[in-house]
Amino acid sequence: MAAFTSPETADRTAFERRWARLRSDDSTTNRVIELDDRVVGHIASFDMEGRREITYWIGREDWGRGIATRALREFLQLEASRPLYARAASDNAASIRVLTKCGFLIVGEDRGFAHGRNEETDEVVLRLDA
Ligand SMILES: CC(C)(COP(=O)(O)OP(=O)(O)OC[C@H]1O[C@@H](n2cnc3c(N)ncnc32)[C@H](O)[C@@H]1OP(=O)(O)O)[C@@H](O)C(=O)NCCC(=O)NCCS
Repeated sequence: MAAFTSPETADRTAFERRWARLRSDDSTTNRVIELDDRVVGHIASFDMEGRREITYWIGREDWGRGIATRALREFLQLEASRPLYARAASDNAASIRVLTKCGFLIVGEDRGFAHGRNEETDEVVLRLDA
């Protein structure tokens, strides 16, 4: 579903290195998503080409329980930048639904190489203005 991932998702060392870099980068805001004292995902915002963007991920076993929607709603109180952007693969209906439920509107389309799929992939660009 998440097409535009880092190139080395299966490499634990690369994963640790990437998160160490992100966690020490003051320009990113990272939060763990917990449910009943269990880690179920993460949500973050970061600067990309002059725009503030968000990203999130929920463990598969917890999909479809409204967790991403609740996490994003809470995160939008913390991350005050507007406009705020998000990108999703065009076929990632669940993520697009989460974003539009939280007020994001589709404002554009793009296409790029997606490491998560190892192929060129269509994506939509969404924006939250208020
Ligand atoms: C996308 C993701 C974050 C959704 O998390 P979640 O906790 O299951 O999301 P929620 O339960 O809050 O909401 C999902 C919504 O999408 C809808 N949905 C799920 N699958 C769908 C599909 N195939 N087609 C249309 N709608 C779909 C659900 O019905 C729900 O909407 P509703 O509340 O109106 O019924 C999760 O699947 C995930 O982490 N995927 C992998 C990483 C990823 O894609 N991250 C986002 C990158 S942009």
